[in-house]
Amino acid sequence: SRIAVFASGQGSNFAALMDAQKEGNLGGGRIELLVSDKPEAPVAQRAKDAGIPTLLLRPKDFASRELYEAEIVAELQRLKIGLIVLAGYMRLITPVLLTPYSGRIINIHPSLLPAFAGKDAIGQALDYGVKLTGVTVHFVDGGMDTGPVIAQRCIAVEDNDTVDLLSKRIHKVEYELYPEVVGAFAAGRISLDGRKTIVREK
Ligand code: GRF
Repeated sequence: SRIAVFASGQGSNFAALMDAQKEGNLGGGRIELLVSDKPEAPVAQRAKDAGIPTLLLRPKDFASRELYEAEIVAELQRLKIGLIVLAGYMRLITPVLLTPYSGRIINIHPSLLPAFAGKDAIGQALDYGVKLTGVTVHFVDGGMDTGPVIAQRCIAVEDNDTVDLLSKRIHKVEYELYPEVVGAFAAGRISLDGRKTIVREK
């Protein structure tokens, strides 16, 4: 499938996905577009350096969120994008994007959902004092990190952990898990039935 990655920040997950594609580990998926709501974000430069087309639009240049997304949808349809991969895209999605891409938008979140949804999930987990946290990949719906779970990995919280240290360990897991799930989707190995997902083995 033809993939668009949406990101607002560093883009280290975008880089991991690009690496997986280069190594033939993305289930035949191809990253055809990088969409960012922050034209000055490092991820935009990464995409340019990698020769990936970018769509860089500032939501505040549009009269509404819906008009902003309508412009994105037009480009996705022009490029025949079949899968949207959110990788640190810091915005909620409206029905303008959700309806045409229902079941074809996935996100990665740095906690074991439904714990610690929303911003600063790693800080939230440390503040709460949990001993286990992790990474979740899920389908996206209209809520904040609420869609059906596709895959999760656990990570232990250490006694003297910091946001910095724990983030590093979480990122390492993300760089493995996300390409795996994107590859499984691209290869047609993920099915969705209500809130239940099944990832078939290769
Ligand atoms: C990741 O930790 C991801 O789980 C969260 O945002 C972060 C993005 O990091 N949704 P990067 O931009 O891929 O480096």
